[in-house]
Order: sequence, then structure tokens, then C-alpha cells
Amino acid sequence: MFRTHTCGELRAEHVGQEVTLAGWVNRRRDHGGVIFIVLRDREGLTQVIAGSDVSPTAHQVAAEARGEYVIQVRGIVRRRPDDQINPDWGTGEIELEAHEVRILNTAKTPPFYIYEESPVDEALRLRYRYLDLRRAGMQRNLILRHKVVKFIRDYLSERGFLEVETPYLFKSTPEGARDYLVPSRVHPGKFYALPQSPQQLKQLLMVAGFDRYFQIARCFRDEDLRGDRQPEFTQLDLEMSFAERDDILDMVEGLFTALVPAVTPHKKLLTPFPRLTYAEAMARFGSDKPDLRFGMELIDVSADVADSGFGVFSRAVQSGGQVKGIVAPGCADYTRRQLDELTAIAKQNGARGLVTLAFRESGVKGPAVKFLTEAELNRLAERSGAHTGDLLCLVADEPATVAAALSALRLTFRDRLGLVDKDMMAFGWVLDFPMFEWNEEEQRWDAAHHPFTMPRPNTYEAMAADPTAVLSDAYDLVCNGYELASGSIRVHDPKIQMDIFKMLGYPEDEAQERFGHMMEAFSYGAPPHGGMAPGIDRLVMLLADADNIRDVIAFPKTTQATDLMADAPANVTEQQLAALHIRIVP
Ligand code: AMO
Repeated sequence: MFRTHTCGELRAEHVGQEVTLAGWVNRRRDHGGVIFIVLRDREGLTQVIAGSDVSPTAHQVAAEARGEYVIQVRGIVRRRPDDQINPDWGTGEIELEAHEVRILNTAKTPPFYIYEESPVDEALRLRYRYLDLRRAGMQRNLILRHKVVKFIRDYLSERGFLEVETPYLFKSTPEGARDYLVPSRVHPGKFYALPQSPQQLKQLLMVAGFDRYFQIARCFRDEDLRGDRQPEFTQLDLEMSFAERDDILDMVEGLFTALVPAVTPHKKLLTPFPRLTYAEAMARFGSDKPDLRFGMELIDVSADVADSGFGVFSRAVQSGGQVKGIVAPGCADYTRRQLDELTAIAKQNGARGLVTLAFRESGVKGPAVKFLTEAELNRLAERSGAHTGDLLCLVADEPATVAAALSALRLTFRDRLGLVDKDMMAFGWVLDFPMFEWNEEEQRWDAAHHPFTMPRPNTYEAMAADPTAVLSDAYDLVCNGYELASGSIRVHDPKIQMDIFKMLGYPEDEAQERFGHMMEAFSYGAPPHGGMAPGIDRLVMLLADADNIRDVIAFPKTTQATDLMADAPANVTEQQLAALHIRIVP
């Protein structure tokens, strides 16, 4: 037996017992006749004390041990002297008096410290991920991730959900990203696509009668990566039959309301989760994934400045646009440089400029003040609620640009002014999305969610006349400014499904080739159904207070979609390529 206990287990009640521990040398201090070793495993840290007076051989071996050596220690548990008790450790009241020390393996000096949370270049961390994962923060994150997934499995199983696995080698799924393709050796020139989500398969499971399905499912998407996106990521994929939208929202809300306090008791929740329509979220926050932890809502002043002598405002309103603003409390004294930075953020988000009005003791200041009348300034102050000391930031443009620019500024102020409680998990539902989005590049309509989404009943009729008026029965769960989950009620009527494919410009034969299996299945008695898919990585990232999704994934890819440790993607042999009927054309 290698060990009797883990390094996180021993307490005062074990004092006097003989035990054996095994682990890594976290740190070692040599005080001549006495060597202190902090021994580490996944469960914690235990102080080992090897004295030459107790065991000269144990002391001698301890002297040879270095950081990250793997050792085994047999000895007696002793109470630490009162002044050496470490309240930060579970094992802080005891230490292990070494009677025998064995070196199980040596270690090279690691490229960064394992025992402290000092910042390390991420490329180095990913290159030596197995060492990075030994560090306390990453251990915490992965343990939390395990707890989250276990909680979800238990919660849903208790409510009649069945976990069913679906294939990785499948067919292109229309989730909007590029597919990862896998060439077939057996069928020259043909390819499987790795699923962007199990969307089609879970719908087919509903047709098959497996009501209440879930899966902790890996999804693959070849898209531009960011801090909250990975090429392969994990969803809690779920689907319910004979369920209306509210049944699904209630199920998911119930799950998160129970999950958060169970795995992160220090986190705060607001329940019930607020519900906003897409139109309302865009109007109030300029975003369909608003951070609801703070206010600073967008204020529409279009009506107040429609006839203003200030052309920037009046022209925007008269040409069908808007003038909206946000109030940054206590920012009236921003310097020229700070204001230029804000303008740059507005411009990066498509705005032509930013109008700032600083409400100072000495009056309203800003380059646009001279173009505005006293009455207009008063109306703006009144409408926006700006007080002395505040900065009013205004954008005049078409609505999408106004929303994008002000939303970005709102988040900038959030971070600069520290407006949020970091322990708050501010969930919210966004409902009634538009069904279709115009794709300017390809000059066609795209499905805003995916093509299997049911239009809202009373808006479906408008499809032919005005696609923008069609709302979908799609819903998102947002949290702290992230889209955490998406879902929808699905089309189960082959005729509506075909109409939607037509609307999306799929020629009938292409719709048939890509989705014929779905249409066929729907003709064999598909129950009304719907579902949703929260992203597990994003969820754990928020619960762990990580600011990057990579910090909650054991072996993530870089933003260049590479694995720095194993050096993937990599070359393959000519024989492998030949077997797959592939020739690389440089
Ligand atoms: P959607 O494409 O919106 O919906 O994805 C659902 C959730 O998955 C997470 N997610 C990601 N996480 C990390 N990296 C990525 N590249 C990534 N892409 C998505 C997000 C997102 O909210 N089949 C539908 C769901 C349904 O209708 O049931 C779907 O996949 O948290």
C-alpha cells in the first residue's frame, strides 16, 4: 500500500497514529538537523518534519529530495506547537514526524513555480499543462467542474431525464460555424462532420420517444476563437417532449437556482430570473447578452433632440436613427485623454463619434454644448437623470450602431468604475428573438438561432411579406454579460420546416440532401418538443471567477486552435494520407 491517507486528510484526532503519505515535494526547507517538507497531493498539503535525531536515514533521504520529487513518507502524526498552527490548511494542526522517507521518482526543475499562484506566461503553461494543472488554482477549477457536472447529472436524473450518447462522426449540422471534417477511408472523397452540437440527434431522440433527454456533450466548431470560445467545448444538451417554452425555462432556472449555492455557496443569485424580450434587452442595454449586475441603462433622448439645431442629433433622428445615451456617475472630470479613449471605443463599435456632456459645478461642458440650447441641455439632464458630477455619453446613429457603441461603453464603465459585485451571478432570460437575420455578405436570410426553431405562432404568417417581423420561439439564458445557454421550441411540422428552408434559400434538393432524414423522421409522428443547451465551460468559468474559458478546461487549445503540449495539429505520414485518398496541395 502506497499510502494510508491523502495529504489533505490528517487532523488533530490522528495525533499519535502511524501513517504513510505519498505525494509531491511542494517546498523543502533545510534547517540542518531538521528538514521541513511540505508534501502535496490533490487533496491538500501536509507538513513533514524529518529530524536526524528521530531517524538519521529518513533525514538523509529527505535531504536529497527536491521540488516536485515524488516521495513516500511513513511516520507518526504529531500535534504542531501552538505557535506553528496554520489555520489556512485543513491539516494545519498536525505534522508528520518522518521515520522513513522513500524517493519514488525524481523531477527536473519545473519551468515555473508550482507552489505559488504567480502569473506565468500562458504559452508556457499550455506547453507544460500537466505541471500547470498541479497548481492549486487549476486543481480548484477542475474539481469545481466535476462538482458542477455531477450536480447536473443527479438533478436531471432525479427529474426523469435520461443521458443518451450521440455520435461524433456524423453529418454537417447547421449551427452557423464551419465544420470540422473527418475524411472517410472506406468511402473515398466522403467526409463525416464532427457535430457542432447534437441538435438534430436530440430532436430525433424525441421522435423516438426518449422524452427528457440530456447529455454532457462535446461540440466542435471551427470558428474564430476568443476568451469565451473553444473549437471543442462542452454543452449540457437537453430536450423535452410535450413541453412549452415555460416548461423548459422553469426546468433550467430550477437547475441553476439549485446548482449555484450547492457548488459555490459564496455566490449570490437573484431569483426569479428576470425575463426580457430581445427588443427590450437591445433597447435598455444595447445587447442581447446584457450584464444585469448593474444599471446604467441606455436612455433614448431622440424625441428631445429631433429638432435640435445640432445637426448630428437632428439628422440622425430624421433619417430614422436614434440618439441615446448613458450616464457615467462621477465622471464629469474626465480628462481630454480619457474622453478620447471613450470616443475610440464608440468608433471601434461602428459609431461615427461620441458626444459627451460633463455636468460640472461650473455648468455643462463639452464640445457640443455650444450647438445646444439651454432648454435642450435641461431636457437632456432631466431625461437622463444626469446630476452634477456625471458624464452623459451620447451616440447618434442607426439603432444597431447606437446599441453596439453604448453597450461597449457601458461595459467599459463597469470595469473602470468597479460597478459590479463579483460574487453575483445575474442570470436573465432573453426571449422572442427575431427569426431571421439578413446576411449582407451573401445577400440572403439566415436563421438567427437555427433552422429548426419554431416561429412564434402569431408572427409566422408575416414570413412571406416581412421576414423581419417574424419572431422565433428561441430563448437565451444570459449571465454577467455572457450568453450562457440557447434553446428553442422546435418545428415538428414538415410543412413549416420546408417553408423555413425555402425562406433560408435552400433549394429543395439541397434541403433534401442535408436534412432529408429530419423531414422524413418528422413525417412519422414527431411530438411537439423543445430544448436548450447551456455551455458548461462558460458556466464553470463564471462560477470559478476565471476570466478565460481555457482556465476551466484541462487541455484547451490556444486562440490559434493549437495544442502547445502535444503540438497538434500535426503532420501525418504519406501512407495515412494515401489511405484517406488525400493529397496535400501546398
Ligand atoms: P448555441 O450554438 O447557441 O446553441 O450554443 C449553446 C451554448 O453553447 C456555448 N457555446 C460555446 N462555448 C464555448 N466555445 C464555443 N465555441 C461555444 N459555442 C457555443 C454557449 C452557448 O450559449 N443546439 C443549440 C442549442 C439548442 O437549441 O438546444 C446550440 O448549440 O454557452
